[in-house]
Amino acid sequence: LRPAKTIPPAAAPVSVGDLFRGATGLFRQDGPDIIADGIRNHFGSESVFLVSSGKTALLLILKGLHAIRPRRKVLIPAYTCYSVPSAIRRAGLEIVLCDVDPETLDFNYAQLERLADDGTLCVVSTHLFGIPSDVERARRICEAKGIYLVEDAAQAMGVPHRGRFLGTFGDTGFFSLGRGKNITCGNGGIILTSSAEISASIMSRLHELRPEPLAVMIRGMAEAALTKVFLNPFLYWLPRGLPFLGIGETTFAPAFPTFRLGRFGAGVLRSWKERLEAHNGYRAKNGRHYAEALGLRDGLSIHCRPTPYLRFPVYAKTPEAKIEACDRLGSLGVSPMYPDSVNRIKDLRRYFGESRYPGAEWIAGRLMTLPTHAILSAGDLDRICAVITAYCETNAPKEPAICRKS
Ligand SMILES: Cc1ncc(COP(=O)(O)O)c(C=O)c1O
Repeated sequence: LRPAKTIPPAAAPVSVGDLFRGATGLFRQDGPDIIADGIRNHFGSESVFLVSSGKTALLLILKGLHAIRPRRKVLIPAYTCYSVPSAIRRAGLEIVLCDVDPETLDFNYAQLERLADDGTLCVVSTHLFGIPSDVERARRICEAKGIYLVEDAAQAMGVPHRGRFLGTFGDTGFFSLGRGKNITCGNGGIILTSSAEISASIMSRLHELRPEPLAVMIRGMAEAALTKVFLNPFLYWLPRGLPFLGIGETTFAPAFPTFRLGRFGAGVLRSWKERLEAHNGYRAKNGRHYAEALGLRDGLSIHCRPTPYLRFPVYAKTPEAKIEACDRLGSLGVSPMYPDSVNRIKDLRRYFGESRYPGAEWIAGRLMTLPTHAILSAGDLDRICAVITAYCETNAPKEPAICRKS
């Protein structure tokens, strides 16, 4: 434990006012419904459901879709959050991996086309860091084969795309309200759909969910208050240095708790719209700054768009350079993302045998992220830009083109 200014890799700050609204929300039974109505209107989605996390949202979606169409395969990117395979296993369905293109952080579409078949229930199209994936292309592949398109917009709440919002292009989609997402209420997830059939099916699974137990609500309140205090860069070294807190860890754990979103969380979300616009504004501005200052604008397509990056992705020159950069520059918020591709998660390896996902494995070895949140000062941004160039590719790396061919 070394007390030193430490910038969190991702942060969705909550104010004292938000915590106060959370506490007063405890006395309002209609709090979650009011938030769901506001989200429905803003995103133009017919149905909105609020649950305890993004993975609970995905679990309910999968169960809801499977009840309508009893297919078993769920096609996901081979590089994604471990919560996604956790929810699929929890739903008792089969994980099918599609390789990821390092230039776009999106599917290898030639492979997606080959993998999608009449046993596929859905394709989960993921907007990693808020970068829009090619949902139109995924939809064309899905429609031809009677496959549902699910949008994983866990990291993309409030991101506009072609006159709509990400999360509303698929048959159904979800956002995460976890710590470090676009906005947070501690833990939470939002399901969106405009299909009456899918909505009815998800609704009947939602009725099976318990309301948030009191102990979980109290723990959520304590965590929200502590997060408010310890996101301060002059205090963040403390939770970051305590390994048992597992800050920033991503684990494959299908036995996660599932509830409906509680009243405290709904109270914290009362100012969701203003917070979302303000914080996504900071993220877009800081992302633009990195792209320009690091000379990335003419390189990979992930750097060529105005996106409210939840974290700004860069590739290290080598896997060794990534480890060194994250180690030396961790106090500047430079951080690895998921530790490995999904096929190499210990508990899942047996399902994928010798199958290789070269794009996803390349990404896992090189991807690191720079912070974009509102807590960053202009001086922090300059310091990060000054030191990161020694470790990262500032021109389009050669390898991604090779990865894409497979
Ligand atoms: C891409 C992606 N999908 C799904 C999830 C799951 O969300 P949650 O952590 O709220 O369960 C996350 C969040 O970590 C995520 O980043």
